Parts: sequence; C-alpha cells; structure tokens
Amino acid sequence: MQFTLNSPLDMHLHLRDGDMLKNIAKFSAKEFAGALIMPNLMPPVTDINSLLSYKERILEVVSGENFTPYMSLFFKSDYTADFLQKAKPYIAAIKLYPSGVTTNSESGIERIDIKKLSPIFEAMSELCIPLCVHGETNGFVMDREREFCAVYEQLAKAFPNLIIIMEHITTCASAEILKRYENLYATITLHHLLITLDDVAGGLLNPHLFCKPIAKRHEDKEALQELALNANKKVMFGSDSAPHLVDKKERCGCAAGIFSAPIILSALAELFEKHNKLTNLQAFVSNNARDIYKLTPIEKNIILEKKEWIVPAKLHDVVPMFAGQSLKWKVKP
Ligand code: DOR
Ligand code: ZN
Repeated sequence: MQFTLNSPLDMHLHLRDGDMLKNIAKFSAKEFAGALIMPNLMPPVTDINSLLSYKERILEVVSGENFTPYMSLFFKSDYTADFLQKAKPYIAAIKLYPSGVTTNSESGIERIDIKKLSPIFEAMSELCIPLCVHGETNGFVMDREREFCAVYEQLAKAFPNLIIIMEHITTCASAEILKRYENLYATITLHHLLITLDDVAGGLLNPHLFCKPIAKRHEDKEALQELALNANKKVMFGSDSAPHLVDKKERCGCAAGIFSAPIILSALAELFEKHNKLTNLQAFVSNNARDIYKLTPIEKNIILEKKEWIVPAKLHDVVPMFAGQSLKWKVKP
C-alpha cells in the first residue's frame, strides 16, 4: 500500500547554521518541496544581506534536492516602510517574537504596542507580507498562549488586511479565535497533534519532548486534531522542528525544541490514517499553505509506503522525536 503527496510544505522550520545546518537540513530537503525558514539565529536575521547569505548557505547544503527555502525576517520595531518594500522580493514572511519567550528571542519585542508599531503593520498589509507570531506572554507556562489571544484579537481587528499567522498553536482558545477572524491563520506542529504535557512530564521527564509552547491538555490536542485532520483551510502544517545537540537537551537547563524533521511525513500519515482522514493530508501539508501564502511550490512527489521502521536513537548528535519507536509509514527513498 502506498500513496503520494504532492509538494509537501513545512511552514515553520528551524534549520540553524554551521555544522548543525549541514547535518540536519537534508531531513527536510528530502521530504519537502519547501519550508518557511525561521530567523532566530544568533544574531537574528534582521537585514537583507544576512538573509540572502543565510539563504545561500542553506541552498549550498541542500544542493541536489528540489527544495525551496522561503525566508523570513526577525521582526524589529525600527523597520520602515521603505526597508519592507526593499525586503519584499526576498521574503515570504516576518516573524515576531515577544522578547525572551523562547530560544534566541532576547532581541524580540518588549511590549507589543499596536499604536506604535502600526506603520509597520500597515506597510506589511499593503505589501502583502504575512506576519508570523510566536504567541506567548511571559506568564504562567500553561497560560502563556491563552493570555496572548487578546493580542491576536487586537491585531486582527486593527489590521484587517494583514495576514496574521498564529504559529504553532497549542490550545482550544487559539482554535476558537482563529475561526472568528478572517485574517487569522495558524500553523500546527506534529508534536502538538500527538503529545500532551503528560508525555513531557507526567511520568519520567522527557527532555526531547520539551518545547515552547509546551504541549497542553487532551482537550487542546483534540481541538488541534479537529482542525488538522479536517484540513480546515485556516491551518497548515508547520513542524517547528528545532534541533539542539543532545548535551543541550539531556541536562539541567534543557533547551526548548523538538527535532521532528526525520519523522514528520511518516507520523502524519499514521495519525491521518488512524482517523480515516488520509485524503485530507495533502491539503494540510501543502494546499492550505499554498493558498494562505500564495505560493507555487516546485513539483515534487513524495511517495509513502506502508512499511514499518524504527526511528534512529540519534542523528548527528541530535535525538529525534520518537527515537527508538516504530512507525508504520515510510517515505520511499
Ligand atoms: O521549542 C522551541 N524551540 N520553540 C521555539 O519557539 C523556538 C525553538 C528553537 O529555536 O529552538
Ligand atoms: Zn519555531
């Protein structure tokens, strides 16, 4: 038994830089036609030159694969309309991080003052540049995303022509507001479709499932599954695959991030098949993103076959999600 996915897209991916980039980019480049590349390097990608040279480094390591890196800039409050116009041809989105909420976000936005930032949001609306947002406050860990929903609502109301993408949503609250505002969209990760906080910290602590936003409750996971499995047009797949070296994970002060890239399509196929929704996978991993971002990805057919395999324990000193576990579907090499 097998089926084909046409030009899958991962609309939220951390490829890192240097050796890590060299080692891990292939896992995405082999199985996806393109991905939205996150800009939270150290230092973050905030200007056109560093964006273009980062893109070059990515293209160099994925040469030989049909893979398009769609680039994003790291939102800064001093961006001008003129700068955005110059950047527009090179970017697919701008990613806003509230300061300090996640890995390498220290130089993010301290306070999202909508009035002060409105010239940027207006310019982005006019230029049709989507705004991707890491939607968390600095509050109590389980409430951070829910608390941020008020900001999403203010933004959606104040800038009706701005495409706002709620990144890696994890809660019923986000699923609710998404449906209420025409200009709100969302990415959903593999891990938030499959795990809850119980898998992270309910038994023995699993640092490899620790990420931000943290996985939440069963009802939250079900709300996300309802959106993804039905390929709701307002959601698309974004893995947030975020590799960290094993010694940065298996220690006190564990870095946030789950390395899911090597298992994404296999695990998604298993989930969609389990719910009898395999026919919706194409829309969730590709078509919805094409519509939301107005993309025409390169033609790339990925064949998945029903063939059990065991996820390796480690790949280049990074532990992948579900290491050592078996999956039912495999991407045909
Ligand atoms: O868990 C996460 N890891 N969440 C993020 O938002 C960033 C990412 C990373 O870059 O490691
Ligand atoms: Zn991310």
